[in-house]
Amino acid sequence: MASATPSFALERSAQPVAVAERAKLLADPGFGRVFTDHMAVVRYSDAKGWHDAKITARKPISLDPAAAVLHYAQEIFEGLKAYRLADGTLAMFRPDANARRFNASAERLAMPKLPEETFLESIRQLVRVDRDWFPTVEGGSLYIRPFMFASEAFLGVKPSSEYLYLVIISPVGGYFKSGAPAVSLWISQHYTRAAPGGTGAAKCGGNYASSLVAQAEASKHGCDQVVFLDAAEHRWVEELGGMNVFFVFKDGSLQTPPLGGTILPGITRNSLMTLARDEGLTVREEPYSIDQWRADAASGKLTEAFACGTAAVVTPIGTVKSPDGEFKIGAGGPGQTTSRIKQKLVDIQRGAAPDPHGWVSRID
Ligand code: PLP
Ligand code: COI
Repeated sequence: MASATPSFALERSAQPVAVAERAKLLADPGFGRVFTDHMAVVRYSDAKGWHDAKITARKPISLDPAAAVLHYAQEIFEGLKAYRLADGTLAMFRPDANARRFNASAERLAMPKLPEETFLESIRQLVRVDRDWFPTVEGGSLYIRPFMFASEAFLGVKPSSEYLYLVIISPVGGYFKSGAPAVSLWISQHYTRAAPGGTGAAKCGGNYASSLVAQAEASKHGCDQVVFLDAAEHRWVEELGGMNVFFVFKDGSLQTPPLGGTILPGITRNSLMTLARDEGLTVREEPYSIDQWRADAASGKLTEAFACGTAAVVTPIGTVKSPDGEFKIGAGGPGQTTSRIKQKLVDIQRGAAPDPHGWVSRID
């Protein structure tokens, strides 16, 4: 077996993007369209374990047309960001939590676990090599995308005996194109994202493939994101296509749908619950129905709602639409609690405030 903590061989790109071109890209990168010069790669086979770890030029991957991922979607991924701290150092936010979630996803998809230290080291090494790609746009960061897929050429349905683990980096600005102060949501009444016993809690590509038709329906109705309800009753709010959701009440308390196998255990979700409780706020992890949401928004009991995730950070929800009609949250713009809690999180992530929970992991 290869060692648990491989050292990554470095093969620098012979054709890095020219400095002037890179500067142009970094001034307005958008989300997920610009990529750095390198990638991390580690191979796995049942026979050799994890091996051949390297940082190499980012380039297309050659795959056998029978590679299992292309047929049975045995694939998982993660998403985390590196920020520039006030003193200029780059730092990741809770990467250990991403490493653990990656392995939880691997277990659900019958894939081999990746040693957490290999996950963390692959990212640290890659960020070091591509550190000049940090965006210059206000609020920019490096969005880091580790992923693993089944590469064995075999059409039988079984766990693959070979995998590739890769990490790529995309310098990013904001996730939402509109730049609007609050986003609009579409309630999917027909499509569900996950059912008990399914893969809802895993970060696997298949969950996103099945969400696309619902997301397209949301776009058709002029909405930014889709809200998924539970599979059994189509009544309880679960999460958005790519974000968790929080509700803020007039009495100052917060509520978010409970984990339980059908929603992604968001690291931003967990961090915000901790920060809110640090402030003395009550945070409930309890089911919330769509009818209650509508009624509480109308009565004024609910004053704010927001979406949260690595890509979205904390994004206020302004309007919620469904075939039954539409309702506004508060005044339809960012609320005070949402803005305050977002600032708290962002200040820790960017080193502008103390880090009492040890979440910031510096890359020297
Ligand atoms: N829910 C889904 C479906 C997601 O894709 C994401 C994004 O990763 C989240 C929630 C939020 O998770 P995190 O805060 O760990 O980024
Ligand atoms: C993330 O926030 O990392 C995600 O995976 C969400 C996706 C919509 C980009």
